[in-house]
Amino acid sequence: MTRCQLQAALEAAVLAPSPHNSQPWRFEVTDGQVDVLLDESRVLAVADLGGREARMSCGAALFNLRMALRAQGLPVYVSLMPVAERRDLLARVRVSGHLAARADELVLYRAIPRRRTNRRPFRDDPVGGDVQKALRQAALHEDARLVLLDRPERYGAVSTLLRFAENAQRQDVDFQDELLAWVAEDPDRLDGVPPLASGPPPLMEPLVLLRQYGSDGDKRPREYEQEPLLGVLLTHRDSARDHVRAGQALQRVLLTATAGEVSTSFLSAAVELPASRSALRSLLGDEGYPQAVLRFGYGYPPPHTRRRPVAEVSTCLQTQG
Ligand SMILES: Cc1cc2nc3c(=O)[nH]c(=O)nc-3n(C[C@H](O)[C@H](O)[C@H](O)COP(=O)(O)O)c2cc1C
Repeated sequence: MTRCQLQAALEAAVLAPSPHNSQPWRFEVTDGQVDVLLDESRVLAVADLGGREARMSCGAALFNLRMALRAQGLPVYVSLMPVAERRDLLARVRVSGHLAARADELVLYRAIPRRRTNRRPFRDDPVGGDVQKALRQAALHEDARLVLLDRPERYGAVSTLLRFAENAQRQDVDFQDELLAWVAEDPDRLDGVPPLASGPPPLMEPLVLLRQYGSDGDKRPREYEQEPLLGVLLTHRDSARDHVRAGQALQRVLLTATAGEVSTSFLSAAVELPASRSALRSLLGDEGYPQAVLRFGYGYPPPHTRRRPVAEVSTCLQTQG
């Protein structure tokens, strides 16, 4: 792996999503090997007590890293949590030899810089059956499941739970204080969420409520879609390793959507509050552990959020070739 190949791979890795754009990752590079580490100082103490979502974010960064290396014809070997005593060492990526990238890997790689969280209103156009199938397969490919809520009775119960959880976080002073600290009012700030990345205020109360960063400012109220396509990402178990897996599955789903011109956003309140998370699990028939709730649809993309540069989040432990 040359210095250039490594730089391209790390630049792709840091474009991963993370809650409040907290970017809780670090990378340690030695010859032919990249370690993906959890930056515990960036785990959200209120929204993400225990660090599940931070590990998912690192899993999403790992997925980008994999695709960027594959796009350059490098075969990738990943071990998750390779050292039992090192809870922060989430993955070790080794590279050796040459194997041409497959077309599907290139499609996902090219979607990395185009993906973004879209909290704006979506059009009412339905997401077609073929796209839904591709999204489900993307999750399965990474050993997770994406349950798309297509049965009306399930949809009603889950959307009620999502609203309940979002409202609970809106009234939780500690949650709101933490969120406020991650609102990036300063355009030079390299983490956090700028108010421009939030959607406009709804004209009428929509079925699902999206997270709001900063004040609405002078955004004109707009109508949101009536019934967005909702999906819940599930894993079989709920260990730290499963969270890293879930992050990879999440990112494959998001990039598959992006490649198909489908916008995505998160509705995490219901998986961040423990009681709502177990209620959601029961509503889905105890078929797995809910890791993320996603909204899919067609809409105009918001601006990109910023990232800390690769040099700030990586350490080179040995000179690269
Ligand atoms: C595990 C996880 C949970 C998230 N939950 C939410 C959420 O509940 N609401 C929201 O608006 N964004 C959520 N996000 C999206 C982040 O805010 C977003 O990824 C970050 O601001 C970077 O922006 P980008 O995705 O456009 O690159 C979540 C992201 C991750 C990885």
